[in-house]
Amino acid sequence: MEKRIRELLASDRPCSGVRVQGWIRTRRDAKGFSFLEVNDGSCLKNLQVVVDAQIPGAEQLNRCTTGASVRVDGDLVESPAPGQRWEVRATRLELIGPADSTYPLQKKGHSLEFLRSIAHLRARSNLFGAVFRTRSRLARAVHEFFQARDFLWVHTPIITASDCEGAGELFRVTTLKGQPGERPKDDFFGRPTYLTVSGQLEAEALACALGRVYTFGPTFRAENSNTSRHAAEFWMIEPEAAFFDLEADMDLAEDFLKAMARHMLEEGGDDLDLFERFVDREVRARLRFVTERPFVRIPYAEAMEILRKSGRSFEFPPEPGQNLQSEHERFLTEEHFHAPVIVYDYPRAIKPFYMRLNDDGVTVRAMDVLVPGVGEVIGGAQREERLEVLRENLRFHGLDESDYQWYLDLRRYGTVPHAGFGVGFERLLMFLTGMGNIRDVIPFPRTPGHAEF
Ligand code: 4AD
Ligand code: MG
Repeated sequence: MEKRIRELLASDRPCSGVRVQGWIRTRRDAKGFSFLEVNDGSCLKNLQVVVDAQIPGAEQLNRCTTGASVRVDGDLVESPAPGQRWEVRATRLELIGPADSTYPLQKKGHSLEFLRSIAHLRARSNLFGAVFRTRSRLARAVHEFFQARDFLWVHTPIITASDCEGAGELFRVTTLKGQPGERPKDDFFGRPTYLTVSGQLEAEALACALGRVYTFGPTFRAENSNTSRHAAEFWMIEPEAAFFDLEADMDLAEDFLKAMARHMLEEGGDDLDLFERFVDREVRARLRFVTERPFVRIPYAEAMEILRKSGRSFEFPPEPGQNLQSEHERFLTEEHFHAPVIVYDYPRAIKPFYMRLNDDGVTVRAMDVLVPGVGEVIGGAQREERLEVLRENLRFHGLDESDYQWYLDLRRYGTVPHAGFGVGFERLLMFLTGMGNIRDVIPFPRTPGHAEF
């Protein structure tokens, strides 16, 4: 019976007639025996396989080198070796695919930069196996969180005609019809189209019918920023809820991050141990801290005051009316408050057109959640639900009303207060694992100048 290694290692009794398939991490030879450390990606731990030189297939042992794939039939027995409860005594060995000495993941430490250059193989390393397993578990936890709160998962388009964020960071969609070498065309839809920068506008339409929805899908930004937290293709989670105000939005964001941190503490297992040992010693402590303490909530104006009075010499001095830079975000969370911080009520001019205007006429009901180590992990807002004010916002931002007729309809017909936010899934992963670079939490990262795989 074929078993995953994770299942075998969790067994509470010996078991005969098991089949294991995976990749060899190392081989050690003794007199008449060899020991294979086999990993199948199901967990961090390797399974020790003891191969007697007499069994069928043992003649292939010398080609069973690091990186080769094997199929092993045998019995799960108590291991006499210290530090492991189980091993498999092979009764039959089959070398499926050899790997010669050019296999790049030989048993030694490799730099993250080097591993990035072999993105197609790095998932076979301990660290990246742990990251990608965590990514999958976390995606499931995201769905469970929202579905338990009666949010419907909706699928918003990847090809869109609008620039939700108004920042002009769009990838254009074109076709390559006709002869090879022909110039790209973008007349397929009869209008210019782009890869989505956010599913928010469509999510608003669905929230204003279904009540509570969320998106979870790929998002694209042609931001030419070569930083450790920007990718050109990333995954975003965007809840949107009718009858929510900014307060409810902030509560949901805080509950969400706390639930994800708790999930990581409870389900992270060996993978979390690995992050704590080799990536960030503080990661577990920080996760506990996040689950236990209320987040700080301050208006943008107050955040600016704190930054200006800090006496710190920032590379970009904080200027009222300007966006917070990542060094400012880190100062607030890591040095001033030592906690996640929600900054709200930003100046209208530096936020998109859809945010609800405050009575002061100059700030909007925006909120950003900043966390230690990463900075902004969530951006959201209460939306402008008043038709005339929304029209004025479009004018204020120099946008053409005729491009937003369907969006204005949501305010023409049965408008309601509503709010939502967007979580960068990779930034969330960085926060929960301690990984320092967004390129190392997505299997095949896309950043300016990089789309090799
Ligand atoms: O703050 P942003 O731009 O907000 C929106 O797109 C809203 N429409 C969301 C909403 O209210 N529904 O992006 C939301 C989050 C950011 O806080 C950040 O975590 C992540 O998306 N993000 C990126 N992650 C990786 N690479 C990039 N280039 C990112 N840009 C934004
Ligand atoms: Mg933002």
